Amino acid sequence: MMRFLKFLLPLIIILAAGFIWFSYQNDLDDAASTNSSSQKKSDSSTTEQPATFNKDKYSLTDPESIWVVVNKQHPLQPQSYIPSDLRLPDVSQRIPGAEQMQLREEAATALEKLFADAQTAGHQLQITTAFRGYNYQKSLYDGYVREQGQAAADTESARPGYSEHQTGLAADIRPADGRCYLEQCFGETPEGEWLAKNAYKYGYIVRYVEGKESITGYSYEPWHVRYVGSELSLEMHTTGIQTLEEFFSVNGGTTYRNL
Ligand code: DAL
Ligand code: ZN
Repeated sequence: MMRFLKFLLPLIIILAAGFIWFSYQNDLDDAASTNSSSQKKSDSSTTEQPATFNKDKYSLTDPESIWVVVNKQHPLQPQSYIPSDLRLPDVSQRIPGAEQMQLREEAATALEKLFADAQTAGHQLQITTAFRGYNYQKSLYDGYVREQGQAAADTESARPGYSEHQTGLAADIRPADGRCYLEQCFGETPEGEWLAKNAYKYGYIVRYVEGKESITGYSYEPWHVRYVGSELSLEMHTTGIQTLEEFFSVNGGTTYRNL
């Protein structure tokens, strides 16, 4: 019996040690796989994080910037600004070849794509005015004041030096047959509805939307689109923020600064 135990005891000890070692290895493996999966999780959560939109990427005050905010609180600086890369976009124009049909290069290229896709969708659009220099804006504004008085003019027309049109990044659009020319009914035409729904895909926004008059400073203008680049137009579309003033927390409103 003693001889049997002498033989059995080392065997039990070896088996027990083997069992303990095996369990320990298993624990290590479990721990390693838990760590690596949590590592993976945090890796993937890092890549899935939506990139924060960089609101400082471009200037809001430099007239050359595609994000420049021009309103009654923020005139063009200098007031005599003329963009250096104006060109006529290859689209239907109310006064073919006129200086006021021009846009800045980037805005012109984007508008050509917008007009081409509108045409494919069955809508013939036309530019009524795009770039307006200081003096042209002055003659327009003075005309509004003569006809309606200054208070009414200020709800529809920017004073010279305060118009987005002077940036070469804004265009007024109408159906090629002229329906609802500079009238709010443009918003209800098939062309106006298409423009409101699709402009953001081409880097444009409808700048003076309904319900934001006290922020933008102007009546609803469904015909006036402003090029801001597709990065910003997509972000504004996604977030549902409709005005540049709200998006960038920039002052706007209906009264002129220093007046
Ligand atoms: N109608 C717009 C506000 C302008 O005159 O620039
Ligand atoms: Zn306009």
